[in-house]
Amino acid sequence: MPSTLENMPKIVLRNMGVDGANKIDKATERGAYAQLKKAYAMQPPAIVDEVKKSNLRGRGGAGFPTGMKWTFIPKDSKTVYLVINADESEPGTCKDREILFWDPHLLIEGVIISAYALGCTHAYIFIRGEMIREAAVMKRAVEEAYAKGHIGREVATAKGAFKLDVTVHRGAGAYICGEETSLLNALEGKRGWPRLKPPFPAVKGLFGMPTIVNNVETIANVPAIIDKGGQWFAELGTARSGGTRILCMSGHLNKPGVYELPMGIPLRQVIDEVCGGVPGGKKVKAVIPGGSSMPPLDASELDIPMEFDALMTDERIKPVQVRPGVNFDMGGGKPLRTMAGSGGVIVMDEDTDLVAVCARIMRFYANESCGQCTPCREGTGWLARICTRVAKHEGRPGDVELMASVAHGIAGNTICPLGEAAAWPMLGFLTKFRGEFEARIKPGLQPEPPRAPPGLHQIGQRPPAGGGHA
Ligand SMILES: Cc1cc2nc3c(=O)[nH]c(=O)nc-3n(C[C@H](O)[C@H](O)[C@H](O)COP(=O)(O)O)c2cc1C
Ligand code: SF4
Repeated sequence: MPSTLENMPKIVLRNMGVDGANKIDKATERGAYAQLKKAYAMQPPAIVDEVKKSNLRGRGGAGFPTGMKWTFIPKDSKTVYLVINADESEPGTCKDREILFWDPHLLIEGVIISAYALGCTHAYIFIRGEMIREAAVMKRAVEEAYAKGHIGREVATAKGAFKLDVTVHRGAGAYICGEETSLLNALEGKRGWPRLKPPFPAVKGLFGMPTIVNNVETIANVPAIIDKGGQWFAELGTARSGGTRILCMSGHLNKPGVYELPMGIPLRQVIDEVCGGVPGGKKVKAVIPGGSSMPPLDASELDIPMEFDALMTDERIKPVQVRPGVNFDMGGGKPLRTMAGSGGVIVMDEDTDLVAVCARIMRFYANESCGQCTPCREGTGWLARICTRVAKHEGRPGDVELMASVAHGIAGNTICPLGEAAAWPMLGFLTKFRGEFEARIKPGLQPEPPRAPPGLHQIGQRPPAGGGHA
């Protein structure tokens, strides 16, 4: 039975708002580090099994089963790294910073247990550059944990002596450094560019060694799994997603905020009961369910459970289309609906200008594209420019089709999923709110003229101003 609002235990946000709980004495009083003894008495594979049993799925965006990911580390690896992804830059997402600020010792305890399970002796916490306050709290917490001997000192375990070092590393503030391979490059002191996969980090990651990258919220759940057992954690959630879920509720809500909620709670209940409904009693027009890279839901799709599988497969969510009547194919004819992503839920009321919202999102991704691959570098810029002119009521005939075709051309053709992060919401907004875009096309204007791509101008001629397109 999944937990409900009434009987759900608070796991990862239990110390949110508790003064002083981010310092080690109060944190210890409130239960921090209590699970280390139990974990050290277990063999590492038994911990991995418990995490597998718990149905814990990654909270960083993709919802990948954590225990399964841990088993991808090649057996007998001599050096293994654990890297905590605290980059948190997806628009609409603001949960990891609450854990970092209010409960850094819960995260450190999770890191210690996970590192022991993985055979890792040096873990890194990579914090987004702009999170100055959280990085300071996290650094102090790590120093306190060193001083108390929880890290940096050898301890006896079921597998012999174990010692872990933890380094807090601040990023320079680029969204792309949240992508795991880009993050690893940044940690190595290189330009934060995504790497081609395979090889996956679990096989060849930080400094060429097997590496597990996990999100802050994911790892903050591990102590509770050791305390109460994988079965208990699994039963709190739905069939394939264990535990609770943090939702970052923003937009047109009476009580926006960061809430730890039952996994699979219907979106309508979150909006109406948890967040007190929409100001002025207005109707909901659209909801972005998992950070701005996810296709939006419309007002008829609010009874969906907020859970990884449901948001991808529930047939009450209309498939995203490439053009009217043609679904976006995720492979094997599987349609794209939406995803739970990073838990960033943005609610928009009936008066929201969704074309302007979409243009804003496109500008974000165009700005954050690392520029390494052409479909993303060029395509996100086109989407931003075309969508911005449509939002200004200056759209040209054919712009709606052009945006859909550019977005479709990006998806699946790039090194990392940032391309899809722009293409999916673009196609999603066009599928569900096409009329709003079409209404902004100025019939008197000429369609976008076909032009040669930059660089293909005739020899001896100057390239067109601005480089070519859109
Ligand atoms: C463009 C991009 C940005 C990402 N940003 C983050 C981020 O800020 N935090 C995060 O945990 N995962 C982010 N991810 C997902 C990570 O690549 C990776 O899947 C995740 O950290 C794995 O942790 P998990 O299994 O615990 O979810 C991002 C992915 C992409 C493609
Ligand atoms: S998809 Fe975009 S962000 Fe990702 S590697 Fe290519 S250019 Fe860079």
